[in-house]
Amino acid sequence: MRDSTPNDLLRISVASDALGRRANRDLAHLPGPRGHRLWGNSRDFLPNPGQYVRDMRRRHGNCFTVGVVGNRRQVILAGPAANRLVLLDADDNFSSRWGWEVLSAHFPGMVLLRDFADHRLHRRLMAPLFKPAALRRHLIQMDPIIRESIRTWPDAIDIFRECKRLTLEMALRVFGGFEGGADHEPLYRDVATLLDNVLAPPGVRRWRALRARDRLRHTLHGELATRRQNGGEDLFTHLAVWTDEAGRGLSDRDVIDHMLGFLFAAHETTASALTTMSIKLAENPVWQERLCEECRAARQDFGDRLTSGCLDHLPLTDAFFRETLRLYSPLQMIPRRAVQAFRFEGRHIPANAPILLFPQATHFDPEFFPEPERFDPLRFVDAPGPDPFAFIPFGRGSHMCLGMHFAALEVKAILFQLLLTKRLRLGEEGSGTLNYVPLVRPLRPVRLHLSPL
Ligand code: HEM
Repeated sequence: MRDSTPNDLLRISVASDALGRRANRDLAHLPGPRGHRLWGNSRDFLPNPGQYVRDMRRRHGNCFTVGVVGNRRQVILAGPAANRLVLLDADDNFSSRWGWEVLSAHFPGMVLLRDFADHRLHRRLMAPLFKPAALRRHLIQMDPIIRESIRTWPDAIDIFRECKRLTLEMALRVFGGFEGGADHEPLYRDVATLLDNVLAPPGVRRWRALRARDRLRHTLHGELATRRQNGGEDLFTHLAVWTDEAGRGLSDRDVIDHMLGFLFAAHETTASALTTMSIKLAENPVWQERLCEECRAARQDFGDRLTSGCLDHLPLTDAFFRETLRLYSPLQMIPRRAVQAFRFEGRHIPANAPILLFPQATHFDPEFFPEPERFDPLRFVDAPGPDPFAFIPFGRGSHMCLGMHFAALEVKAILFQLLLTKRLRLGEEGSGTLNYVPLVRPLRPVRLHLSPL
Protein backbone atom coordinates (compact mmCIF):
# COMPACT_ATOMS: atom_id res chain seq x y z
CA MET A 1 0.00 0.00 0.00
CA ARG A 2 1.38 3.44 -0.89
CA ASP A 3 1.38 5.82 2.05
CA SER A 4 0.68 8.90 -0.02
CA THR A 5 0.38 10.27 -3.56
CA PRO A 6 1.07 13.80 -4.83
CA ASN A 7 -2.66 14.54 -4.41
CA ASP A 8 -2.69 13.62 -0.73
CA LEU A 9 -2.89 16.07 2.11
CA LEU A 10 0.48 16.08 3.85
CA ARG A 11 0.99 16.04 7.57
CA ILE A 12 1.34 19.63 8.84
CA SER A 13 4.62 20.21 10.73
CA VAL A 14 4.05 21.10 14.38
CA ALA A 15 6.27 21.93 17.36
CA SER A 16 5.95 18.45 18.92
CA ASP A 17 7.70 16.88 15.88
CA ALA A 18 10.96 17.90 17.55
CA LEU A 19 10.31 15.71 20.64
CA GLY A 20 11.82 12.23 20.74
CA ARG A 21 10.54 8.95 22.11
CA ARG A 22 12.54 9.44 25.33
CA ALA A 23 10.80 11.81 27.73
CA ASN A 24 12.62 14.15 30.12
CA ARG A 25 13.49 12.29 33.36
CA ASP A 26 15.02 15.29 35.10
CA LEU A 27 12.15 15.66 37.58
CA ALA A 28 13.86 15.04 40.93
CA HIS A 29 13.12 18.62 42.10
CA LEU A 30 9.36 17.85 42.21
CA PRO A 31 7.76 16.24 45.31
CA GLY A 32 6.31 12.76 45.24
CA PRO A 33 6.50 9.30 46.82
CA ARG A 34 9.83 7.48 46.51
CA GLY A 35 9.56 4.60 44.06
CA HIS A 36 11.21 1.19 43.79
CA ARG A 37 13.97 1.16 41.15
CA LEU A 38 12.21 -1.63 39.19
CA TRP A 39 8.51 -1.00 39.53
CA GLY A 40 8.42 2.58 40.79
CA ASN A 41 5.07 3.19 42.53
CA SER A 42 3.09 1.05 40.11
CA ARG A 43 2.17 -1.60 42.71
CA ASP A 44 0.40 1.06 44.79
CA PHE A 45 -0.81 2.99 41.82
CA LEU A 46 -2.27 0.45 39.38
CA PRO A 47 -4.97 -1.26 41.46
CA ASN A 48 -6.91 2.03 41.73
CA PRO A 49 -5.00 5.02 40.33
CA GLY A 50 -7.75 7.54 41.13
CA GLN A 51 -7.64 6.63 44.83
CA TYR A 52 -3.83 6.69 44.92
CA VAL A 53 -3.65 10.09 43.19
CA ARG A 54 -6.18 11.54 45.64
CA ASP A 55 -4.05 10.30 48.59
CA MET A 56 -0.86 11.73 47.04
CA ARG A 57 -2.62 15.01 46.23
CA ARG A 58 -3.53 15.43 49.91
CA ARG A 59 0.12 14.88 50.81
CA HIS A 60 1.99 16.72 48.04
CA GLY A 61 -0.47 19.23 46.54
CA ASN A 62 -1.52 19.65 42.91
CA CYS A 63 1.85 18.91 41.26
CA PHE A 64 3.95 15.85 42.09
CA THR A 65 5.55 12.84 40.43
CA VAL A 66 4.97 9.08 40.64
CA GLY A 67 7.14 6.33 39.18
CA VAL A 68 5.96 3.76 36.63
CA VAL A 69 7.98 0.68 35.56
CA GLY A 70 11.72 1.38 35.96
CA ASN A 71 10.70 4.21 38.29
CA ARG A 72 10.34 6.50 35.26
CA ARG A 73 8.76 9.54 36.85
CA GLN A 74 5.53 11.07 35.49
CA VAL A 75 4.29 14.53 36.46
CA ILE A 76 0.79 14.39 37.91
CA LEU A 77 -1.17 17.63 37.75
CA ALA A 78 -4.45 17.72 39.69
CA GLY A 79 -7.43 20.04 40.09
CA PRO A 80 -9.60 22.11 37.73
CA ALA A 81 -6.84 24.69 37.08
CA ALA A 82 -4.47 21.94 35.92
CA ASN A 83 -7.20 20.36 33.75
CA ARG A 84 -7.95 23.75 32.21
CA LEU A 85 -4.28 24.57 31.51
CA VAL A 86 -3.45 21.24 29.88
CA LEU A 87 -6.71 20.42 28.09
CA LEU A 88 -7.52 23.88 26.74
CA ASP A 89 -3.86 24.22 25.78
CA ALA A 90 -4.13 27.80 24.56
CA ASP A 91 -0.40 27.87 23.68
CA ASP A 92 -0.18 24.53 21.83
CA ASN A 93 2.19 23.19 24.47
CA PHE A 94 0.78 19.78 25.44
CA SER A 95 1.33 17.01 22.95
CA SER A 96 -1.32 14.30 22.80
CA ARG A 97 0.66 12.43 20.15
CA TRP A 98 3.56 11.77 22.54
CA GLY A 99 1.24 11.31 25.52
CA TRP A 100 -0.59 8.51 23.68
CA GLU A 101 2.55 7.15 22.04
CA VAL A 102 1.63 3.65 23.23
CA LEU A 103 -1.00 3.60 20.44
CA SER A 104 1.34 4.70 17.68
CA ALA A 105 2.28 1.20 16.50
CA HIS A 106 -1.35 0.48 15.67
CA PHE A 107 -2.87 3.66 14.22
CA PRO A 108 -0.26 6.44 14.07
CA GLY A 109 -2.43 8.74 11.95
CA MET A 110 -5.54 8.67 14.17
CA VAL A 111 -6.84 12.00 15.39
CA LEU A 112 -5.79 11.50 19.03
CA LEU A 113 -2.18 11.04 17.84
CA ARG A 114 -2.04 14.39 16.06
CA ASP A 115 -1.12 17.71 17.57
CA PHE A 116 -2.03 21.37 17.22
CA ALA A 117 -2.65 22.66 13.62
CA ASP A 118 -2.36 19.14 12.18
CA HIS A 119 -4.88 17.83 14.73
CA ARG A 120 -7.34 20.71 14.16
CA LEU A 121 -7.40 20.03 10.43
CA HIS A 122 -8.19 16.31 10.82
CA ARG A 123 -10.66 16.83 13.64
CA ARG A 124 -12.59 19.39 11.58
CA LEU A 125 -13.11 17.04 8.70
CA MET A 126 -14.72 14.43 10.97
CA ALA A 127 -17.10 16.84 12.64
CA PRO A 128 -20.01 16.43 10.14
CA LEU A 129 -20.47 12.84 11.31
CA PHE A 130 -21.35 14.08 14.81
CA LYS A 131 -23.84 16.84 13.97
CA PRO A 132 -27.45 16.34 15.22
CA ALA A 133 -28.75 15.25 11.78
CA ALA A 134 -26.05 12.59 11.51
CA LEU A 135 -26.75 11.41 15.07
CA ARG A 136 -30.44 10.98 14.18
CA ARG A 137 -29.38 8.82 11.23
CA HIS A 138 -27.05 6.76 13.41
CA LEU A 139 -29.88 6.10 15.87
CA ILE A 140 -32.15 4.77 13.12
CA GLN A 141 -29.35 2.34 12.20
CA MET A 142 -28.65 1.33 15.79
CA ASP A 143 -32.19 0.73 17.07
CA PRO A 144 -32.88 -2.59 15.25
CA ILE A 145 -29.39 -3.91 16.09
CA ILE A 146 -29.96 -3.18 19.78
CA ARG A 147 -33.45 -4.73 19.84
CA GLU A 148 -32.25 -7.88 18.11
CA SER A 149 -29.22 -8.28 20.38
CA ILE A 150 -31.18 -7.82 23.59
CA ARG A 151 -33.91 -10.13 22.33
CA THR A 152 -31.38 -12.93 21.81
CA TRP A 153 -29.44 -12.44 25.08
CA PRO A 154 -29.76 -15.55 27.29
CA ASP A 155 -31.08 -15.40 30.88
CA ALA A 156 -27.59 -14.79 32.29
CA ILE A 157 -24.82 -12.89 30.52
CA ASP A 158 -21.20 -11.86 31.07
CA ILE A 159 -22.13 -8.21 31.00
CA PHE A 160 -18.82 -6.68 29.84
CA ARG A 161 -18.36 -9.25 27.08
CA GLU A 162 -21.87 -8.69 25.68
CA CYS A 163 -21.54 -4.90 25.88
CA LYS A 164 -18.23 -5.05 24.02
CA ARG A 165 -19.69 -7.25 21.32
CA LEU A 166 -22.67 -4.94 20.88
CA THR A 167 -20.72 -1.66 20.84
CA LEU A 168 -18.18 -3.10 18.41
CA GLU A 169 -20.92 -4.24 16.07
CA MET A 170 -22.51 -0.79 16.15
CA ALA A 171 -19.20 0.97 15.53
CA LEU A 172 -18.45 -1.30 12.57
CA ARG A 173 -21.89 -0.79 11.05
CA VAL A 174 -22.39 2.91 11.77
CA PHE A 175 -18.83 4.22 11.25
CA GLY A 176 -17.43 1.49 9.01
CA GLY A 177 -20.55 0.98 6.88
CA PHE A 178 -20.10 -2.82 7.16
CA GLU A 179 -23.03 -5.20 7.35
CA GLY A 180 -23.08 -7.96 9.96
CA GLY A 181 -23.23 -11.61 8.95
CA ALA A 182 -20.89 -14.43 7.99
CA ASP A 183 -19.13 -12.47 5.18
CA HIS A 184 -17.65 -10.08 7.66
CA GLU A 185 -16.82 -12.60 10.37
CA PRO A 186 -13.00 -12.50 9.69
CA LEU A 187 -13.10 -8.69 9.75
CA TYR A 188 -14.97 -8.66 13.06
CA ARG A 189 -12.52 -11.20 14.47
CA ASP A 190 -9.45 -9.21 13.46
CA VAL A 191 -10.89 -5.97 14.83
CA ALA A 192 -11.61 -7.68 18.16
CA THR A 193 -8.08 -9.21 18.28
CA LEU A 194 -6.46 -5.87 17.53
CA LEU A 195 -8.54 -3.85 19.95
CA ASP A 196 -8.32 -6.38 22.79
CA ASN A 197 -4.52 -6.34 22.60
CA VAL A 198 -3.65 -2.77 21.63
CA LEU A 199 -2.08 -1.99 24.99
CA ALA A 200 -0.44 -5.39 25.52
CA PRO A 201 3.31 -5.29 26.36
CA PRO A 202 5.77 -6.91 23.87
CA GLY A 203 4.99 -10.62 23.64
CA VAL A 204 2.54 -13.00 21.98
CA ARG A 205 -0.56 -10.82 22.52
CA ARG A 206 1.11 -7.79 20.98
CA TRP A 207 2.38 -9.86 18.07
CA ARG A 208 -1.19 -11.10 17.45
CA ALA A 209 -2.47 -7.53 17.54
CA LEU A 210 0.09 -6.41 14.97
CA ARG A 211 -0.75 -9.33 12.67
CA ALA A 212 -4.47 -8.51 12.96
CA ARG A 213 -3.67 -4.84 12.24
CA ASP A 214 -1.83 -5.81 9.03
CA ARG A 215 -4.69 -8.03 7.83
CA LEU A 216 -7.17 -5.23 8.62
CA ARG A 217 -5.11 -2.65 6.75
CA HIS A 218 -5.12 -4.99 3.77
CA THR A 219 -8.90 -5.60 3.95
CA LEU A 220 -9.78 -1.92 4.43
CA HIS A 221 -7.44 -0.96 1.61
CA GLY A 222 -9.32 -3.39 -0.63
CA GLU A 223 -12.61 -1.69 0.34
CA LEU A 224 -11.42 1.85 -0.42
CA ALA A 225 -11.92 1.74 -4.20
CA THR A 226 -15.51 0.47 -3.77
CA ARG A 227 -16.30 3.17 -1.23
CA ARG A 228 -14.87 5.89 -3.48
CA GLN A 229 -17.01 4.64 -6.33
CA ASN A 230 -20.29 3.88 -4.55
CA GLY A 231 -20.36 6.57 -1.85
CA GLY A 232 -22.12 6.18 1.51
CA GLU A 233 -22.92 8.06 4.70
CA ASP A 234 -20.54 6.29 7.11
CA LEU A 235 -17.29 7.75 8.45
CA PHE A 236 -15.06 5.40 6.44
CA THR A 237 -16.61 6.49 3.13
CA HIS A 238 -16.76 10.13 4.23
CA LEU A 239 -12.99 10.11 4.87
CA ALA A 240 -12.24 8.12 1.72
CA VAL A 241 -13.96 10.65 -0.58
CA TRP A 242 -13.12 13.87 1.31
CA THR A 243 -11.14 16.54 -0.59
CA ASP A 244 -10.20 20.13 0.27
CA GLU A 245 -10.62 23.21 -1.98
CA ALA A 246 -7.36 22.33 -3.75
CA GLY A 247 -8.64 18.85 -4.56
CA ARG A 248 -6.32 17.08 -2.10
CA GLY A 249 -7.63 14.11 -0.12
CA LEU A 250 -6.44 11.88 2.72
CA SER A 251 -3.84 9.21 1.96
CA ASP A 252 -5.13 5.63 2.02
CA ARG A 253 -3.03 5.03 5.13
CA ASP A 254 -4.57 8.02 6.96
CA VAL A 255 -8.14 6.92 6.13
CA ILE A 256 -7.38 3.44 7.48
CA ASP A 257 -5.62 4.74 10.62
CA HIS A 258 -8.52 7.07 11.37
CA MET A 259 -10.98 4.23 10.93
CA LEU A 260 -9.13 1.78 13.19
CA GLY A 261 -8.48 4.53 15.75
CA PHE A 262 -12.17 5.33 15.81
CA LEU A 263 -13.16 1.73 16.43
CA PHE A 264 -10.68 1.69 19.31
CA ALA A 265 -11.94 4.98 20.81
CA ALA A 266 -15.61 4.09 20.36
CA HIS A 267 -16.22 0.60 21.54
CA GLU A 268 -14.48 -0.35 24.79
CA THR A 269 -15.01 3.04 26.47
CA THR A 270 -18.75 2.78 25.84
CA ALA A 271 -18.81 -0.90 26.87
CA SER A 272 -17.10 0.08 30.12
CA ALA A 273 -19.73 2.75 30.88
CA LEU A 274 -22.59 0.40 29.99
CA THR A 275 -21.15 -2.32 32.23
CA THR A 276 -20.72 -0.12 35.31
CA MET A 277 -24.20 1.35 34.75
CA SER A 278 -25.78 -2.10 34.45
CA ILE A 279 -24.04 -3.23 37.64
CA LYS A 280 -25.24 -0.10 39.46
CA LEU A 281 -28.79 -0.71 38.22
CA ALA A 282 -28.71 -4.33 39.34
CA GLU A 283 -27.48 -3.19 42.78
CA ASN A 284 -30.19 -0.51 43.07
CA PRO A 285 -33.67 -1.95 42.38
CA VAL A 286 -35.25 1.40 43.33
CA TRP A 287 -33.28 3.25 40.67
CA GLN A 288 -33.92 0.47 38.21
CA GLU A 289 -37.67 0.91 38.70
CA ARG A 290 -37.39 4.71 38.43
CA LEU A 291 -35.55 4.57 35.12
CA CYS A 292 -37.90 1.90 33.83
CA GLU A 293 -40.86 4.17 34.65
CA GLU A 294 -39.17 7.06 32.87
CA CYS A 295 -38.63 4.93 29.75
CA ARG A 296 -42.25 3.71 29.82
CA ALA A 297 -43.53 7.28 30.02
CA ALA A 298 -41.25 8.35 27.13
CA ARG A 299 -42.48 5.44 25.01
CA GLN A 300 -46.05 6.47 25.68
CA ASP A 301 -45.33 10.04 24.57
CA PHE A 302 -43.09 9.30 21.59
CA GLY A 303 -44.27 5.91 20.33
CA ASP A 304 -42.45 2.62 19.84
CA ARG A 305 -39.85 3.78 17.29
CA LEU A 306 -36.87 5.19 19.12
CA THR A 307 -35.99 8.78 18.23
CA SER A 308 -33.44 11.24 19.61
CA GLY A 309 -36.43 13.37 20.74
CA CYS A 310 -37.49 10.49 22.96
CA LEU A 311 -33.98 9.97 24.37
CA ASP A 312 -33.73 13.71 25.11
CA HIS A 313 -36.65 13.25 27.52
CA LEU A 314 -34.89 10.87 29.92
CA PRO A 315 -33.39 13.25 32.52
CA LEU A 316 -32.99 10.59 35.21
CA THR A 317 -31.32 8.14 32.84
CA ASP A 318 -29.03 10.95 31.74
CA ALA A 319 -28.18 11.78 35.37
CA PHE A 320 -27.55 8.09 36.11
CA PHE A 321 -25.12 7.98 33.16
CA ARG A 322 -23.21 11.04 34.41
CA GLU A 323 -23.02 9.87 37.98
CA THR A 324 -21.66 6.50 36.83
CA LEU A 325 -19.05 8.29 34.68
CA ARG A 326 -18.12 10.45 37.65
CA LEU A 327 -17.41 7.42 39.84
CA TYR A 328 -16.04 5.10 37.17
CA SER A 329 -14.53 7.20 34.37
CA PRO A 330 -13.70 4.59 31.72
CA LEU A 331 -10.42 6.38 30.94
CA GLN A 332 -8.66 6.96 34.25
CA MET A 333 -5.69 8.87 32.82
CA ILE A 334 -5.24 11.54 30.18
CA PRO A 335 -1.57 11.64 29.13
CA ARG A 336 0.37 14.49 27.48
CA ARG A 337 3.99 15.57 26.91
CA ALA A 338 5.02 19.20 27.47
CA VAL A 339 6.72 20.71 24.42
CA GLN A 340 8.20 23.72 26.27
CA ALA A 341 8.99 24.17 29.96
CA PHE A 342 6.17 25.81 31.96
CA ARG A 343 5.25 26.75 35.52
CA PHE A 344 2.32 25.44 37.52
CA GLU A 345 1.50 26.70 41.02
CA GLY A 346 5.05 28.04 41.36
CA ARG A 347 6.77 24.84 40.24
CA HIS A 348 9.02 24.55 37.19
CA ILE A 349 8.16 21.69 34.85
CA PRO A 350 10.84 21.16 32.20
CA ALA A 351 10.36 20.71 28.45
CA ASN A 352 9.58 17.18 27.26
CA ALA A 353 8.16 16.14 30.68
CA PRO A 354 5.49 13.40 30.65
CA ILE A 355 2.23 14.73 32.17
CA LEU A 356 -0.77 12.80 33.49
CA LEU A 357 -4.22 14.14 34.39
CA PHE A 358 -6.73 12.08 36.37
CA PRO A 359 -10.45 12.75 35.92
CA GLN A 360 -11.12 11.04 39.24
CA ALA A 361 -8.92 13.50 41.15
CA THR A 362 -11.63 16.16 40.74
CA HIS A 363 -14.59 13.76 40.42
CA PHE A 364 -14.07 12.87 44.08
CA ASP A 365 -13.25 16.37 45.29
CA PRO A 366 -15.88 17.33 47.95
CA GLU A 367 -15.55 20.97 46.92
CA PHE A 368 -17.34 20.08 43.66
CA PHE A 369 -19.18 16.90 44.61
CA PRO A 370 -20.31 16.83 48.27
CA GLU A 371 -20.06 13.37 49.84
CA PRO A 372 -18.18 12.21 46.77
CA GLU A 373 -18.16 8.49 47.67
CA ARG A 374 -21.97 8.40 47.65
CA PHE A 375 -23.64 7.23 44.41
CA ASP A 376 -26.30 9.87 43.89
CA PRO A 377 -27.53 10.58 40.34
CA LEU A 378 -29.78 13.34 41.70
CA ARG A 379 -26.72 15.59 42.06
CA PHE A 380 -26.92 15.96 38.24
CA VAL A 381 -30.66 16.72 38.12
CA ASP A 382 -31.69 20.39 37.94
CA ALA A 383 -28.28 21.39 39.32
CA PRO A 384 -26.19 24.20 37.78
CA GLY A 385 -23.35 21.70 37.27
CA PRO A 386 -19.82 21.90 38.68
CA ASP A 387 -16.87 23.82 37.20
CA PRO A 388 -16.62 22.29 33.68
CA PHE A 389 -12.97 21.41 34.34
CA ALA A 390 -13.92 19.47 37.48
CA PHE A 391 -16.04 16.95 35.54
CA ILE A 392 -14.02 15.53 32.66
CA PRO A 393 -14.99 11.93 31.83
CA PHE A 394 -14.83 12.92 28.14
CA GLY A 395 -11.81 15.21 28.54
CA ARG A 396 -12.19 18.88 27.52
CA GLY A 397 -10.68 21.36 25.13
CA SER A 398 -8.89 20.51 21.91
CA HIS A 399 -9.03 16.69 22.13
CA MET A 400 -12.39 16.45 23.91
CA CYS A 401 -14.14 13.21 22.98
CA LEU A 402 -15.51 13.49 19.44
CA GLY A 403 -18.00 10.73 20.12
CA MET A 404 -19.40 12.15 23.37
CA HIS A 405 -22.93 12.79 22.08
CA PHE A 406 -22.90 9.58 20.10
CA ALA A 407 -21.87 7.66 23.24
CA ALA A 408 -24.70 9.21 25.28
CA LEU A 409 -27.20 8.35 22.54
CA GLU A 410 -25.94 4.79 22.24
CA VAL A 411 -25.91 4.15 25.99
CA LYS A 412 -29.41 5.57 26.47
CA ALA A 413 -30.78 3.66 23.45
CA ILE A 414 -29.43 0.38 24.87
CA LEU A 415 -30.70 1.05 28.39
CA PHE A 416 -34.08 2.10 27.02
CA GLN A 417 -34.65 -1.25 25.28
CA LEU A 418 -33.09 -3.22 28.14
CA LEU A 419 -35.14 -1.64 30.91
CA LEU A 420 -38.39 -1.97 28.96
CA THR A 421 -37.93 -5.68 28.42
CA LYS A 422 -35.80 -7.12 31.24
CA ARG A 423 -35.28 -6.96 34.98
CA LEU A 424 -31.55 -6.89 35.91
CA ARG A 425 -30.16 -8.84 38.85
CA LEU A 426 -26.62 -9.75 39.92
CA GLY A 427 -25.61 -13.41 40.27
CA GLU A 428 -24.54 -14.88 43.61
CA GLU A 429 -20.92 -13.86 42.98
CA GLY A 430 -22.03 -10.20 43.12
CA SER A 431 -20.35 -7.35 41.30
CA GLY A 432 -16.75 -8.39 42.06
CA THR A 433 -13.88 -5.92 41.83
CA LEU A 434 -12.94 -3.55 39.06
CA ASN A 435 -9.75 -3.32 37.09
CA TYR A 436 -8.92 0.33 36.37
CA VAL A 437 -6.01 0.30 33.93
CA PRO A 438 -5.92 0.64 30.97
CA LEU A 439 -9.68 0.98 31.19
CA VAL A 440 -12.34 0.40 33.85
CA ARG A 441 -13.73 -3.13 33.50
CA PRO A 442 -14.59 -6.04 35.81
CA LEU A 443 -11.48 -7.92 36.93
CA ARG A 444 -13.37 -11.19 36.50
CA PRO A 445 -16.55 -11.79 34.47
CA VAL A 446 -19.67 -10.39 36.18
CA ARG A 447 -22.80 -12.41 35.49
CA LEU A 448 -26.00 -10.45 35.15
CA HIS A 449 -29.33 -12.26 35.30
CA LEU A 450 -32.02 -10.96 32.97
CA SER A 451 -35.61 -11.93 33.60
CA PRO A 452 -38.28 -10.90 31.07
CA LEU A 453 -40.72 -8.21 32.19
C1 HEM B 1 -18.59 6.58 27.49
C2 HEM B 1 -17.88 6.51 26.39
C3 HEM B 1 -16.65 7.34 26.12
C4 HEM B 1 -15.76 7.93 26.99
C5 HEM B 1 -15.81 7.93 28.52
C6 HEM B 1 -14.76 8.59 26.18
C7 HEM B 1 -13.70 9.32 26.71
C8 HEM B 1 -12.81 10.04 25.92
C9 HEM B 1 -11.79 10.91 26.47
C10 HEM B 1 -11.49 11.13 27.95
C11 HEM B 1 -11.13 11.45 25.41
C12 HEM B 1 -10.03 12.50 25.48
C13 HEM B 1 -8.66 11.87 25.47
C14 HEM B 1 -7.58 12.92 25.59
O1 HEM B 1 -7.84 14.12 25.70
O2 HEM B 1 -6.41 12.50 25.60
C15 HEM B 1 -11.72 10.92 24.21
C16 HEM B 1 -11.30 11.23 22.92
C17 HEM B 1 -11.86 10.68 21.79
N1 HEM B 1 -12.99 9.90 21.72
FE1 HEM B 1 -14.07 9.23 23.29
N2 HEM B 1 -15.05 8.37 24.86
C18 HEM B 1 -16.19 7.63 24.78
C19 HEM B 1 -16.83 7.22 23.63
C20 HEM B 1 -16.43 7.52 22.35
C21 HEM B 1 -17.13 7.13 21.15
C22 HEM B 1 -18.45 6.36 21.10
C23 HEM B 1 -16.40 7.59 20.09
C24 HEM B 1 -16.68 7.50 18.62
C25 HEM B 1 -17.86 7.51 18.12
C26 HEM B 1 -15.23 8.28 20.64
C27 HEM B 1 -14.26 8.86 19.87
C28 HEM B 1 -13.22 9.61 20.39
C29 HEM B 1 -12.20 10.22 19.57
C30 HEM B 1 -12.09 10.13 18.05
C31 HEM B 1 -11.35 10.90 20.45
C32 HEM B 1 -10.11 11.72 20.07
C33 HEM B 1 -10.53 13.16 19.81
C34 HEM B 1 -9.36 14.06 19.43
O3 HEM B 1 -8.21 13.66 19.59
O4 HEM B 1 -9.63 15.17 18.96
N3 HEM B 1 -15.29 8.21 22.00
N4 HEM B 1 -12.75 10.08 24.55
